[in-house]
Amino acid sequence: MEALLVRKLGDPTLPPNVSENSPFDLSTSHPIPNLGSPTSVRVRVKATSLNFANYLQVLGKYQEKPPLPFIPGSDYSGVVDAVGPNVTKFKIGDPVCSFVALGSFAQFIVADQSDLFRVPDGCDLVAAGALPVAYGTSHVALVHRAQLRPNQVLMVLGAAGGVGLSAVQIGKVCGATVIAVARGNEKVQFLKSSGVDHVVDLSNANVIESVKGFLKSRKLKGVDVLYDPVGGKLTKDSMKLLNWGAQILVIGFASEEVPVIPANIALVKNWTIHGLYWGSHKIYQPNVLGDSLKELLSWLSKGLITINISHTFSLAEVRIFGIYHFLNPEKSKKRS
Ligand SMILES: NC(=O)c1ccc[n+]([C@@H]2O[C@H](COP(=O)([O-])OP(=O)(O)OC[C@H]3O[C@@H](n4cnc5c(N)ncnc54)[C@H](OP(=O)(O)O)[C@@H]3O)[C@@H](O)[C@H]2O)c1
Repeated sequence: MEALLVRKLGDPTLPPNVSENSPFDLSTSHPIPNLGSPTSVRVRVKATSLNFANYLQVLGKYQEKPPLPFIPGSDYSGVVDAVGPNVTKFKIGDPVCSFVALGSFAQFIVADQSDLFRVPDGCDLVAAGALPVAYGTSHVALVHRAQLRPNQVLMVLGAAGGVGLSAVQIGKVCGATVIAVARGNEKVQFLKSSGVDHVVDLSNANVIESVKGFLKSRKLKGVDVLYDPVGGKLTKDSMKLLNWGAQILVIGFASEEVPVIPANIALVKNWTIHGLYWGSHKIYQPNVLGDSLKELLSWLSKGLITINISHTFSLAEVRIFGIYHFLNPEKSKKRS
């Protein structure tokens, strides 16, 4: 089968055909994985998404560092290809999705039946392959942890990114007033068309002034829940907009700067700060994670959430261009 292997850590944006330093090697003869136990299911992968964590892992900068060589890739969708003798939940041909620590950038993957989720009839399988990590993270953060309520004010940083866009949509499903922060006109227009209540374009507006103006126009006091996958100066500015009793969801540091949240201000303002590592729920709270994904798949089937796939590529295309295309789609368009 085809599988994308990382043989050495390095810059994932280097195309293998122009650089010897590319960390990737596309194998076309990797062994198809066998069913490892009586409850194993083999899935023929239809789609797998590229998450920020995959990028960090190839660089060697992720919190979990697998031994080399490894097949990257975490969430995926596909069709059941083979089942072990004790499998009761699935049959060959069923559409499923799931996530793993590693291994979905391949044509086949094996999982225990307890780790797979049935994709409801009528749902796009490619969309389902992009759901677990991004939507799962935002759902556990907003619904389970912050318990976001209707009419609360949710502010989402990095709102045009993978987890940010999912937080925006889940915020609307929960009935919150959603403020989105993004960079650039194209992303701002897209967010406006997604029904967001207010969008800040960081490329031409000051986040504090813009959000204060919006809150005043709606007679709102401040932000109740801050969803933060960005960090850095943006977190520092956003803290000036938070209400008494606000919640801060620490999701990630896409700006590459870990923010400082002063404990004295958290005390005076009665803030709750949640650190959230979604993947670790599989070990510590598997039921929370499973219930969350089931609810998200039901929302997908009802059209309450829509997964925006900006680009799709075959594994074979990686042989020519590497992961460079996934990470630099604009530059790639110009190159071709
Ligand atoms: N805690 C968890 O369990 C969990 C799960 C999934 C992801 N994450 C983390 O969440 C973060 C985002 O992941 P993702 O998949 O959404 O990545 P992504 O799709 O690349 O999105 C990142 C977003 O952040 C914005 N951004 C980056 N630097 C910025 C800056 N200096 N100022 C303002 N905006 C900035 C980007 O804006 P532009 O589009 O304008 O560049 C982009 O929209 C990563 O750190 C990832 O590791 C954590």
